[in-house]
Amino acid sequence: MKNIKKTFGKLIALSLFPVVITACNNEPAVSFSQNVKPILDQHCAECHQANGAGTVASGFDMSDYEGLMAGTRFGPMVIAGDVEGSNLLVLIEGRADPSISMPHGQKSIPKEEIETIRTWIKQGAKNN
Ligand code: HEC
Repeated sequence: MKNIKKTFGKLIALSLFPVVITACNNEPAVSFSQNVKPILDQHCAECHQANGAGTVASGFDMSDYEGLMAGTRFGPMVIAGDVEGSNLLVLIEGRADPSISMPHGQKSIPKEEIETIRTWIKQGAKNN
């Protein structure tokens, strides 16, 4: 009898396991217009819109989706689905030299907001 109970308990534990994994993978979809754009507007837009210091210096205009995806004169900053290769994340996560981390000379973006941008890129950087 004891053994049956033990086995039963193990079976329940095993059958719950995939549910937990699925729950982690099912993160809510991040929206560009609802979630990502307001963060960029708040922290980046003052320098990265038409004629802003950052746009003039690098060609990177973040005032809309097309500009964000176009990147700088030297290439894309966001690569859909590639969180390691997207230089936008490298800069805002402080993985680059502090002299070029963004936003320039200002407090870095709060962690949760960086996470939002990271998840959006991971989910394919869609114009959603
Ligand atoms: C106070 C002004 C300012 C703010 C705010 C700012 N930037 Fe910049 N950004 C610049 C300037 C100036 C450059 C030109 C390159 C340099 O001087 O490093 C630049 C360049 C860049 C580049 C190109 C990097 C390179 O090496 O070519 C990226 C990407 C970038 N900014 C992203 C951002 C992001 C993302 C934000 C918001 C989190 C942001 N910036 C906020 C001024 C700013």
